[in-house]
Amino acid sequence: MAASCIHLVFLLCLVPATVASPHRNLRKSPLDVAAAAPSPADASRPTTFFEVDRPLRPPPGSSGPCSTLLLSSSFAFTFTKPPATAAYSPPPCLAAVGGRASAISLAVLEWRATCRGVQFDRIFGVWLGGAELLRGSTAEPLQNGVVWSVSKDITRYASLLAAGNSTLAVFVENLVNSQYTGVYYANVTLHLYFRRTPTTPPPAVAPADLIVPMSRGLPLNDGLWYKIQNATDVASKGVALPSNTYRAVLELYVSFHGDDEFWWKNQPGADANGPFREVTVRVDGVLAGAAWPFPVIFTGGIDPLLWQPITGIGSFNLPTYDVEVTPLLGKMLDGKAHLLAFAVTNAVDVWYVDANLHLWLDPGSTATAAGLVSYVAPELAAATTSSRTTASREVSATGWVKSSYGNITTNATQTFDFDSTNAGETVNQTTVAHAGVAATDVAGVLYYSVQTHQRFPLFLDSGADQVTVTHGLEETTVAAGRWSSGPRYQLLRNTQRSSVAGASWGIRQTYRYEATDGCYLRNVTSSGYSIVTDQSSEACVKGPLR
Ligand SMILES: *[C@@H]1O[C@H](CO)[C@@H](O)[C@H](O)[C@H]1NC(C)=O
Ligand SMILES: *[C@@H]1O[C@H](CO)[C@@H](O)[C@H](O)[C@H]1NC(C)=O
Ligand SMILES: *[C@@H]1O[C@H](CO)[C@@H](O)[C@H](O)[C@H]1NC(C)=O
Ligand SMILES: *[C@@H]1O[C@H](CO)[C@@H](O)[C@H](O)[C@H]1NC(C)=O
Ligand SMILES: *[C@@H]1O[C@H](CO)[C@@H](O)[C@H](O)[C@H]1NC(C)=O
Ligand SMILES: *[C@@H]1O[C@H](CO)[C@@H](O)[C@H](O)[C@H]1NC(C)=O
Ligand SMILES: *[C@@H]1O[C@H](CO)[C@@H](O)[C@H](O)[C@H]1NC(C)=O
Repeated sequence: MAASCIHLVFLLCLVPATVASPHRNLRKSPLDVAAAAPSPADASRPTTFFEVDRPLRPPPGSSGPCSTLLLSSSFAFTFTKPPATAAYSPPPCLAAVGGRASAISLAVLEWRATCRGVQFDRIFGVWLGGAELLRGSTAEPLQNGVVWSVSKDITRYASLLAAGNSTLAVFVENLVNSQYTGVYYANVTLHLYFRRTPTTPPPAVAPADLIVPMSRGLPLNDGLWYKIQNATDVASKGVALPSNTYRAVLELYVSFHGDDEFWWKNQPGADANGPFREVTVRVDGVLAGAAWPFPVIFTGGIDPLLWQPITGIGSFNLPTYDVEVTPLLGKMLDGKAHLLAFAVTNAVDVWYVDANLHLWLDPGSTATAAGLVSYVAPELAAATTSSRTTASREVSATGWVKSSYGNITTNATQTFDFDSTNAGETVNQTTVAHAGVAATDVAGVLYYSVQTHQRFPLFLDSGADQVTVTHGLEETTVAAGRWSSGPRYQLLRNTQRSSVAGASWGIRQTYRYEATDGCYLRNVTSSGYSIVTDQSSEACVKGPLR
């Protein structure tokens, strides 16, 4: 939503973080929904909405949790107002175990919120010291109220949690008036688990030593994200790296609103820049990598009933995207500021983008040295017919970093494929992303490698009488190497099918996680607001994985 909107005809602006055109048909006014949708069977209490996810378990031998309420706030007319903030200090229980980030075996951020009345779904973010920890869409409330919670593994931010005093900021972009009455109330809680025996974390694969926020700093009358409004708009920030950096990973937070909320639904050649989007990351103008986003459908998307009570994949807890920057460190270790820039190919108004730069620092030296060995990044390949859009990209960079660990060469490769067929009422789209990182020394010894393969299928059938959305998030990760300490193998298959016809609707979802650190299976179906079947298990069907 453009900030200038507030100065225009006020009523036109009372749309969500999701202004409607050109997809008015893909959004229903919550006023109409409230008038037409049936009430839940028990209207005396708020209805619980949830996103299917696996429970977070601390590693064996952990103590905890030690839970701390970080912030409790209400969010009424927050649009163009400053974020809610709270002073953050590392919890005393962390100090009691020595205060070091490496004492944390699992950190969980819990977001718990309620709302009642009539309101759009809204976008929100949680930042600590300017680094984003969580981005989500709010639940679209019912008259009797909704309640929902998200638990996110934030262990990778351990250094930030331990670093000392800072500011926690929460921004929920909300508008309240006589028609849209829903006020959000939210609590943000940190749960920490600790290792019973102190360990020396493995280099490069443990949580980063330093996290540098790539966001807009406080004070602000808005969220800390950058707003990218078109295909040529670039958000950038200069950052000077510590001279003993030996690994760098940029983690991107991305969400799409207003005219680009349903970018994947665009008819090629007809609607705003067609259905292909990517977020690119440049270091001093050189393409470091990209994110081809999972098409999150927010809780009010298409028809809110599709996402009640089981919300769309990623909608309460948006996925983030990592870009390995290590091979490009050669140019960045001179102590000077270097420009990190984000852009969105084909964007129309508006994308909210920011990032966290995760840095690993050499404990055994004050300066590392680095050099680029090879770099291949052909132009984006894209093709369009009247109904089909395809795109592919590859970025591959190899560079060495000499630290007290030795002279280690890192190869980082990303490949992407996108295929979308739009036949008017139906959209059939698949995004495939592969990311590989391999670090070896001069003798060829593998220190760590991580290969991630993701597939995001999306099928929309929007007939006159019935709308069906089938989408999935599939991810396989294989890790290896001398420093590798986490699960060697992780497979996730999360598939959801939601269907609405008039005032009757239902959802089927299967979530299958199989990994060397455990398994989780959930198969849940709903009809209207009620859960019809719900089976879950933490047993590994195929027996212990190794
Ligand atoms: C937030 O915490 C307070 C204090 O424990 C509690 O009264 C309130 O109900 C909580 N709100 C939510 C949304 O969970
Ligand atoms: C951090 O904040 C706490 C609580 O406000 C305060 O007691 C402490 O002195 C602060 N520490 C530093 C180093 O500023
Ligand atoms: C793109 O957006 C930027 C930032 O709002 C603006 O300065 C620029 O004029 C826009 N370009 C086009 C082509 O609309
Ligand atoms: C590190 O190894 C690469 C080859 O793998 C070599 O080109 C580079 O000069 C070495 N760096 C140092 C500082 O020895
Ligand atoms: C880097 O990895 C990619 C993908 O595995 C491979 O094709 C490429 O040859 C590797 N490059 C170097 C320089 O090792
Ligand atoms: C979607 O397209 C793929 C090929 O890209 C095809 O295999 C699949 O059957 C299609 N799905 C539907 C529901 O038509
Ligand atoms: C999930 O549960 C439904 C209803 O009980 C059943 O029909 C379906 O076969 C199950 N699917 C899987 C993958 O277990």
